[in-house]
Amino acid sequence: MKKNTIEILCNPITKEKLRLETTGSGEEFLVGVLSGRRFPIKNDIPVFISSDEITGANKRYQGLYDKIARGYDFFEKIVADLTWGGRDNVRRDIVRGVRLNPGDRFLEVSVGTGINLRYLPDDAEFFGLDISSGMLSRCQRNLKKWKLQAELFQGTAEQLPFCDNSFDVVYHFGGINFFNDKKQAIVEMIRVAKGGASIFIGDENENVAKAGEKSKIPFAKEFYANRQETVTVPDNLLPPTMLNVKVEQRWKGRFYFLSFVKPMNA
Ligand SMILES: C[S@@+](CC[C@H](N)C(=O)[O-])C[C@H]1O[C@@H](n2cnc3c(N)ncnc32)[C@H](O)[C@@H]1O
Repeated sequence: MKKNTIEILCNPITKEKLRLETTGSGEEFLVGVLSGRRFPIKNDIPVFISSDEITGANKRYQGLYDKIARGYDFFEKIVADLTWGGRDNVRRDIVRGVRLNPGDRFLEVSVGTGINLRYLPDDAEFFGLDISSGMLSRCQRNLKKWKLQAELFQGTAEQLPFCDNSFDVVYHFGGINFFNDKKQAIVEMIRVAKGGASIFIGDENENVAKAGEKSKIPFAKEFYANRQETVTVPDNLLPPTMLNVKVEQRWKGRFYFLSFVKPMNA
């Protein structure tokens, strides 16, 4: 991990700064400078959650994504091929509007297997966080294959392990509809974005969720089973001070995208 990465990390609960500690046996930890809480680094990925702290929908989806991680890219490609002539069309549409200058810090919350990073300028600095260790392992493999660099973290969107005002763009696609706490995740995405940064939040529309419930493919059905609420765009959860708030449709109307800018002095 780069030295300037540690400078933007914090304890996701207390928000205190962290320092790197290496034990005699070579194990690495990030340690809270005030609380002394230790977060292990496993296979180069700092782990900011422990299984007893994950509850509710987050626990359920962590389990589901761990289970499908190996097949995720394969199935995602089939769906993209069937719905819009392939992944390139879909993914270019999904990252549409993201503007990055060389050296900008880009955070993808719920990075999954990292596919979106392939469609962004590679002279930015990429950071990805996800709740699922299975998805993050696939992401590590993909990054190697694609010769891309990104710093990866295991944690939840609701408690991000980054200091305030750290990123030039904060991006999320594909998980928020079923997070434990959508509002808290949005508060956190805004907190870690710099003043003037763009924030993008996208997920499936109700029509896709409904089709999923009726799907004959068992794992697709499992994803949408027992939903507590219909899908709505979470623009009502934004603080009123956010600027340039826009809602657009992507992937031929299958997904909504909410984008906005954090004010300079927020
Ligand atoms: C449909 S996938 C999208 C992955 C990637 N963004 C993409 O475009 O392919 C949803 C991702 O959200 C992650 N996720 C679900 N709940 C989460 C939470 N509370 N915090 C962080 N990530 C979460 C899952 O592990 C999964 O990788």
